[in-house]
Amino acid sequence: MPLHEAAYGIDDFYAPEHLSSVVRADLAALAPFLPNGTVAGLDVCHLQCHIGTDTLSLVRAGARVTGVGFSPAALASAAGLAKRLGLEATWVETDVLDARAAVSGDFDLVYTSIGTINWLPDLGRWAGQIAGLLRAGGTFHIRDGHPVLYALDEHADGLRLRHPYFGHGEPQVWDEESTYAGDGTVNHSRTYQWAHPLSDIINALIGAGLHILRVDEGATLPWRFSPRMVEVPDGFAWPDVERDLVPCTYTIIARKP
Ligand SMILES: C[S@@+](CC[C@H](N)C(=O)[O-])C[C@H]1O[C@@H](n2cnc3c(N)ncnc32)[C@H](O)[C@@H]1O
Repeated sequence: MPLHEAAYGIDDFYAPEHLSSVVRADLAALAPFLPNGTVAGLDVCHLQCHIGTDTLSLVRAGARVTGVGFSPAALASAAGLAKRLGLEATWVETDVLDARAAVSGDFDLVYTSIGTINWLPDLGRWAGQIAGLLRAGGTFHIRDGHPVLYALDEHADGLRLRHPYFGHGEPQVWDEESTYAGDGTVNHSRTYQWAHPLSDIINALIGAGLHILRVDEGATLPWRFSPRMVEVPDGFAWPDVERDLVPCTYTIIARKP
């Protein structure tokens, strides 16, 4: 089984009601901003859909979903999982920065969550795709690792800043054979990531014409960012005494007027 399929608890999805923990948490945050509090019956575009576990969770919640990603291997995994589970989704292979041109139709909800814009160099262009994909009145959702979290040294024996919070558009180059998905190694070990301060994320969405409805910051993560993190009911967090010192995630919900 490919490394990421093993790490995402694919077997759990054979239980017909199972939704990913990421989507379960996000649907609760989104509910006040959705018609009837649910994605049921909505057209949803899931950006950076990876191997489809969150995409298919949205399908199970009743949405018609288009999953967008640029990795053919990840999309093949997603399509295979959909087939095995008997679920329908549309998969589009494209750079998310070209998504508007590549995806047909428009959407009530554009959704992206956990492991997203740190791979993208250009937030203005990203936000423009989102605005283009949404119908008037449509909703945008992102939850992801907080830029303050990404400035920390995950291997330090305490909370220690190591990486720039203000990335100034310069990529950070990582050369690691392991991935966030846990045990195992990958063949292509070099990745490029971009530090985006919270203000840049919010201003990119405002610049694309979206209205910000809500911004939240959280103290738990769905993955173990640092070996010092401890398991908590909804994922991982810093040890108790440090938990209120730094944010781990942010969530932004916005609307196209
Ligand atoms: C870390 S995964 C996280 C997605 C999802 N939350 C999950 O855990 O399944 C990030 C995904 O974004 C995709 N990706 C990265 N940069 C992209 C880009 N520029 N355009 C489209 N997809 C991209 C990667 O191929 C990967 O599948």
